[in-house]
Amino acid sequence: MSKLLICDDDKGIRRTLQLHLESQGHQVETAADAESGIRLAQGYQPDIIILDICMQGLSGIDALPRFKAISPNSRIIMITAFQDMQSTISAMQNGADEYLHKPIDLDEFDQAIATALAQHLAVQNQDSLDTLCVPDTFGNSMVGASNAMKQVYKTIGRIAHTKASVLITGESGTGKEMVARAIHQAGMPAQAPFVALNCAALVDNLLESELFGHKKGAFTGAVSDQAGKFALAQGGTLFLDEVGELSAQIQAKLLRVLQEKTYTPLGSKTEYKADVRIISATNLNFEQAIKEKRFREDLYYRLQVVQIELPSLLERKEDLKELVPALLYRANKELGTKISKITKSAMDLLMDYHWPGNVRELENTLIKAVALCPSALLTEDLFADIKNKLDTQAKDEAYQVQPHKQDSSLQQIEYTHVKQVLSQVNNHKGKACEILQISRPRLQRILEREE
Ligand SMILES: Nc1ncnc2c1ncn2[C@@H]1O[C@H](COP(=O)(O)OP(=O)(O)OP(=O)(O)O)[C@@H](O)[C@H]1O
Ligand SMILES: [Mg+2]
Repeated sequence: MSKLLICDDDKGIRRTLQLHLESQGHQVETAADAESGIRLAQGYQPDIIILDICMQGLSGIDALPRFKAISPNSRIIMITAFQDMQSTISAMQNGADEYLHKPIDLDEFDQAIATALAQHLAVQNQDSLDTLCVPDTFGNSMVGASNAMKQVYKTIGRIAHTKASVLITGESGTGKEMVARAIHQAGMPAQAPFVALNCAALVDNLLESELFGHKKGAFTGAVSDQAGKFALAQGGTLFLDEVGELSAQIQAKLLRVLQEKTYTPLGSKTEYKADVRIISATNLNFEQAIKEKRFREDLYYRLQVVQIELPSLLERKEDLKELVPALLYRANKELGTKISKITKSAMDLLMDYHWPGNVRELENTLIKAVALCPSALLTEDLFADIKNKLDTQAKDEAYQVQPHKQDSSLQQIEYTHVKQVLSQVNNHKGKACEILQISRPRLQRILEREE
């Protein structure tokens, strides 16, 4: 049984909500104005306060901080007949947990009560909390202590001081750019430049000029000399993001630069020395791209003197233990919030999800939850999107398993395969036997079995 307090000057509403809540087994007290509500709440310490905004005397908005002060563990649901944005905003800013409009929709009301109770319970039941140590400071260093990430750190340490080109591969959002910066920081003097270029973002002409620079008048619109990324990165690191997207033409030019260690700006006759470490990144399957002649093999070997493959988050879920606090620290800093805890059920939800967008998706999910979080505690309901996706994922899996089940005995697979081969050879049974490497009678038997 939970303790609720309804504070509303409308007798009808007090009565209706009280009966509704009592019928669900809750204990309910009521107050007709804010002052008496505050007095009542002090001793009663309700789990949830349902607070009207527009009341005689002290308004709900003005009473809100006082309710919070005398009954800090109460969840507060505001209700009002006014649909104005400003009161909604101030209510939420002052620490209301939910805001409902009159006339009250009972389904919506029940949902709000359920959520508020869950949050209240989570706060009360401290054992069920994963109290996270959100660190006080947090640099730009990578976190995650899984074996897979330890290997990555080791490789970074081993190769940072060499000039070897590095190719970083991994699904999107796995931290490729972070690794590139980490290699740069570990291996280069502090003042050395780190210059990044997204190879997928520009059309060829622009990309070429962006990479190598151009002289005034080299093409229409080239109104002055312009240094390229190679010049800017001189003595430091050039990070080529999405390098798999380079066109054949630029691939050829880049290869020449890497072989000869010199480059020529567009419209110039002078060759410049390229003293630049190249780190590139891609989420492309290079072997496939090379096979399909979309990427030059010789350039690939120049780029991947060292290759670092970043594991997906799915392969290292244990890293969530460190990633969540670190990303929460960043979210707090960005949003000016102070979230330091997450309930166990919320953390379990994050652990169950498959994170196709990897760390970036986790980061966005946490920022969103932090922005919507009414207290210092992240609860499961703040991750509704993830929960929905998890449910869909579960349904998809169940769906995929079904037709399999119906068609998974060896005999059935054999029959289906034989039928497929037959249709490929226009029912020529001799040819089918040759392909399947079986005798004619056996083919016949397989076909008869199912027909
Ligand atoms: N190990 C990590 N520790 C802390 N933050 C991380 C880690 N890995 C990734 N991030 C964060 O996740 C986000 C995505 O990382 P990053 O941009 O490096 O990924 P990416 O592989 O380059 O992604 P994309 O393929 O989408 O360009 C960044 O905000 C980054 O700070
Ligand atoms: Mg990136």
